[in-house]
Amino acid sequence: MDKIVINGGKPLHGNVQISGAKNAALPVLASALLTAGTNTFHNIPDLMDIKTIKNLLISMGAAIEGEETIKISVDKIINPTASYDLVKTMRASILVLGPLVARAGTARVSLPGGCAIGARPVNLHLKALEDMGAHVELNNGYIEARAKKLKGAEIYFDLTTVTGTENIMMAATLAQGTTILNNAAREPEVVNLADVLKSMGAKITGAGTDVITIEGVTSLKPAEAEIIPDRIEAGTFMIAAGMTGGEINVLGCNAHHLDALINKLRDTGMKIAPMKNGLKVSAGKKINSVDVKTLPYPGFATDLQAQIMAYMAIGSGLSVISETVFENRFMHVSELLRMGADIVIQGGNAIVRGVPKLHGAQTMATDLRASASLVLAGLAAEGTTEISRVYHIDRGYQTIEKKFSALGADIKRVK
Ligand code: UD1
Repeated sequence: MDKIVINGGKPLHGNVQISGAKNAALPVLASALLTAGTNTFHNIPDLMDIKTIKNLLISMGAAIEGEETIKISVDKIINPTASYDLVKTMRASILVLGPLVARAGTARVSLPGGCAIGARPVNLHLKALEDMGAHVELNNGYIEARAKKLKGAEIYFDLTTVTGTENIMMAATLAQGTTILNNAAREPEVVNLADVLKSMGAKITGAGTDVITIEGVTSLKPAEAEIIPDRIEAGTFMIAAGMTGGEINVLGCNAHHLDALINKLRDTGMKIAPMKNGLKVSAGKKINSVDVKTLPYPGFATDLQAQIMAYMAIGSGLSVISETVFENRFMHVSELLRMGADIVIQGGNAIVRGVPKLHGAQTMATDLRASASLVLAGLAAEGTTEISRVYHIDRGYQTIEKKFSALGADIKRVK
C-alpha cells in the first residue's frame, strides 16, 4: 500500500491550480441518469471517488468516455442497482437513488451503513421520496424504492442534508407537479447541480437559498456544463500556506465560496488578497489562535475542520473547535497528538492548546479530510512524517503530493 513521506519545515511558494469539485462532480454525473442522449461535463477531477461513480453508472447502463471532460449517455437503464461493494467505499453512491426512481420507476441501493465520521443515516432522503409517493422498503440491507410516477410534494428536511437535497431535487425534476424543498442545503455544489439540471430543461428556482422549488417536467434533454472549483481543496492549500510560513497563489478557485474560511484565516493573521483568477495567500508573522464552529454553508465547512485543527495545533494560544455537523469527526486528533499536538476532546468540542512545533511521526489516514490534516501537519512539522493508508486521500485530492511538491514541499509517495 502507498505511503506519503514528508520532510517538513519548508515554506510553500508558487502557484497551485485547483481542480474541479468532487462533491459537485458526483451529483452532476449521477444526474446523467435522468436523460437519454449524450451529456458533456467539463472540469471533472481525477479522483478515486469519480472512478467509483463512473463504475456504478456503467453497471447501470451508462456509456462513458473521457477524464477531465466526460461524455456520458444513459440511453436505457439496464440495472437500477447500487451494490454494497460500491456504496460501502463511497457513501455518495446514494445519489443515484433519486434519479433512478424518477426515470426507471425503481431502484435498489445498498444502505450505506456506518463510516469513520459517524452514523450518517439517509432517513431524510427516504422520507422525502415517500412524501413524493414512492414505496420504500428495506430488504437485506438494500433500499428498494418504487414509484410509477413521483408526485410533487412539500418537503421539510429536519436537518440540512447536502446529498439529500441533491437527491430529491434530481427526483423532483421528473415528478408530476411541483416540489418545494424546505430547509434545503445552500452549498455551492447544490447550485452547480441545479444549474446543470436547468440546462437539461428542468424548472428549478431558489437553489442557493433554503427553499428550492422544482416544477416537474415530462422529460429532460442532455446538457453541456462545467464543474465548479473544489473549495475544500483550495482551503486545504490556503491553510498549508499559513502553517508553513509561505506565500502561494491559489488559482482557479472561487473566493466567494471560501468566505467563511477567508474570514477565519485573516483573524489568524494571514493575508489573503484577490488576484486575477484566484487568491494570493500569505502566512502572518504569528499564528493567532481562533475558535471555529462547523455549520452548513455558508458557515465554516466541516470538510475543513480537520485541516484548521492542524493549523491551530501550532497557534499561539487556545482554540476551541466545535463540530456540529457530524458526531465523531475527530479521528485525526489521536494522530495529531502523536506529532506533539496538545488537544483534548470534550463532546463535540476540541480544545486545542497551540504548541511551538509539531514533530514528524508515523501516522495513519483514517478518512479523507483527516488525512489532509496529517499532510498539513507533516508539511509544518520538524522532521519526517509518514502517512499510511493514502487511498483515503486519493478519494478526494488530485495528485496531492505533486501539487505540494511543485510549491517547494519535500513530499513523495512511496509504494
Ligand atoms: C456531504 C458531503 C460531505 C460533507 C457533508 C456536510 C458530498 C458527496 N459529501 O455529505 O463531504 O462533509 O455534506 O457538508 O457532497 N443526516 C441525517 N439523515 C439523513 C441525511 C443526513 O441524519 O438522511 C445528518 C448526517 O448524519 C449529518 C448531517 O445530517 O449529521 C449532514 O449530513 P449531509 O449534509 O447529508 O452529508 P452528506 O450529504 O452525506
